[in-house]
Amino acid sequence: MARPGLLLLLLALRPLQPSPLPRPDTTEGKVTIVGLILSALERATLFLEERLPGVNLDGVVGFRVLEAQLRGVQEEWAADPRLRPLSLRTRRLADKLAALLRRSVFYLELSDPRYLREFLPSLQPGFWKLPCTWTHTNTSLVYPVLEPEDSFSEESSDACLVQLLGTGNSSQPCRIPDFCRTLMTQPNCSGYRLSHQLLFFLWARMQGCTEGLFHQSQHYISVFCANMMELNRRAEAIGYAYPTRDLFMENSALAFCPQDKAGCS
Ligand SMILES: *[C@@H]1O[C@H](CO)[C@@H](O)[C@H](O)[C@H]1NC(C)=O
Ligand SMILES: *[C@@H]1O[C@H](CO)[C@@H](O)[C@H](O)[C@H]1NC(C)=O
Ligand SMILES: *[C@@H]1O[C@H](CO)[C@@H](O)[C@H](O)[C@H]1NC(C)=O
Repeated sequence: MARPGLLLLLLALRPLQPSPLPRPDTTEGKVTIVGLILSALERATLFLEERLPGVNLDGVVGFRVLEAQLRGVQEEWAADPRLRPLSLRTRRLADKLAALLRRSVFYLELSDPRYLREFLPSLQPGFWKLPCTWTHTNTSLVYPVLEPEDSFSEESSDACLVQLLGTGNSSQPCRIPDFCRTLMTQPNCSGYRLSHQLLFFLWARMQGCTEGLFHQSQHYISVFCANMMELNRRAEAIGYAYPTRDLFMENSALAFCPQDKAGCS
């Protein structure tokens, strides 16, 4: 799980930048902005379709999250007559994505069957549930001092996600070894380590893990979110200089900072 496939989306967004955006606080402004965003996402979906045989698993997960987000806003907008055309357009886009994502599994099976088997639950429709409430992050949770960034091991992080999903050779969902507990709860982290810590607890929630360490999932999500937001704020303040920008995109893609339980049923 390197970075969700939002790079594609940002590439697709680029041609829009020169025009000034209208204010989002009126319905007209909202309709215009949502229209622009949908156009960009439609381009990103075409991009996905053209490159489907070469898609990687991280990209598919990213698009699955996007599909869940589209379905969430689509339902919300359906209630407002002025937003109904956008709602329909959003649903068509989500349906198109869902069809592409089903097809993508065929190509993932060809390129890396073991990786696919381990991460398959996260690709299923319905794995990603959006939070009902979005929280304001609490700045008192921001770490006063950060650990120096050491090299991040994607293998260890992936191994912990596989344990969580219970898709390894001898693992059960939600049962994690001590090294994952240490890795995923270590304070004062930044960079990819921090974003994977948040990812881990978000996945635990999607997976329905509530025992042991996961009693405290909300606490860890709040801490990691507050720190992620703070790092994003600083990145923004310095104008997204490279290499911060890459991480900013990863962090923004994950910036789900949900409160309490996921899912609105
Ligand atoms: C922020 O977190 C601190 C420490 O956990 C807590 O005491 C405080 O009440 C929180 N503030 C808000 C607004 O939730
Ligand atoms: C995290 O940083 C705080 C404040 O600098 C420090 O007190 C704490 O010991 C650090 N924790 C770890 C595990 O490094
Ligand atoms: C799981 O088993 C397969 C086949 O026996 C083996 O190739 C693979 O390395 C094992 N995976 C892990 C994580 O132990």
